[in-house]
Amino acid sequence: MREGCIERITAFLTSTTGITFDRKKEMVDHKLKELMRKSAIGECEELYSRLIDKEALYYALLEELLVSQSFFYREKSDIDLLVRFLQKRSGISILSLPCANGEEPYSIAIELMERKIEDFDILAIDLNPKAIAKAKKGHYGARDLRNVPFSILAKYFDEEEEGYRIKENVKKKVEFVCANLFEQSQAPFSFDAIFCKNLFIYMDDSHKMEALDIFHRWLKDDGLLFLSFSDYFKAHPCFDRISKECRSIYKKVECDEKSRLYTEWGDG
Ligand SMILES: C[S@@+](CC[C@H](N)C(=O)[O-])C[C@H]1O[C@@H](n2cnc3c(N)ncnc32)[C@H](O)[C@@H]1O
Repeated sequence: MREGCIERITAFLTSTTGITFDRKKEMVDHKLKELMRKSAIGECEELYSRLIDKEALYYALLEELLVSQSFFYREKSDIDLLVRFLQKRSGISILSLPCANGEEPYSIAIELMERKIEDFDILAIDLNPKAIAKAKKGHYGARDLRNVPFSILAKYFDEEEEGYRIKENVKKKVEFVCANLFEQSQAPFSFDAIFCKNLFIYMDDSHKMEALDIFHRWLKDDGLLFLSFSDYFKAHPCFDRISKECRSIYKKVECDEKSRLYTEWGDG
C-alpha cells in the first residue's frame, strides 16, 4: 500500500478521535490491508474516500484499532473516593467515558448500590460499537471479574455456563451509548462526576485539551473529574488537582471563556 495514503488515513482517524497511532504503524497497516481484502477494495485511495464519508467501514476499522480492554474494580480506590464524595447527594448523575465493555460503569453502580445510594444514573459512552454491544449484553468472563470479591459476584451477577451475567437491577442504572466524545461536545449535560480513565494515554495533546474544555462544560460547579493513574496532561486553566496525594482527580475551577479555549492556551 502506498505510504502517503496510509498516513492520510491515520491522520484522519486521529483528527476525528484524538487517538494517535504513531507507535502502531505496522498494526494499522495490517488492519487496513485486512479491511480492504474483506470489503473487496482494491485501492487504498478508495478506502480513504469511503472512510472520510464515515460509512460503516469507518466503524469497522475503529473496532479493530481501538483498545477496549478493561476489567471490573480497576483503580477501585477512586470508586471508593467517588462514593464518599456522593454521600448525601440526590439526583446524582455520572459519566463514564470511555466505558469500554461496561466494566467501569457497572463497578461504580455496584459500589453505590452497596452503600445504599440509589438515586443516581450513569451515562456510559464509548466509540467502539463492539464494546458497547458487549456492555449492553452484560456478560463477562472470570478474567474480567478477577478483582471482584466473591460476595459481590454472588449478589450482583448470575452465573452462567460460560461466565457471569450482570443482574437487571444494576443494568438498568446504566445507559450505554456508542458515540465519539468530540461529536457530543454541544450536549447539554450536567454531571456530578466524570470518569475518563485510560483515554488520555492514547490521545494527542490538542485533543486532551479539547476534551478538558468539554468536561468543564459538562461538570456541575462542584463536580469532580477522575482520570486514570496513567493519564497525563500538562495543565489546564480550568482544572486543579483536589490534593497533592490524589494525582489524577480534579475539581473544576473558575476560568474565563478566553482561557478555556485550548487553541489560545500556551504550553503551561
Ligand atoms: C482502554 S479503554 C478504557 C476503559 C475504561 N475507562 C478503563 O479505564 O478501564 C479506552 C476506550 O477509549 C475509547 N475511545 C477512544 N477514543 C474515543 C473517543 N473519541 N470517544 C469515545 N471513546 C473513545 C475506545 O473505544 C476504548 O474502548
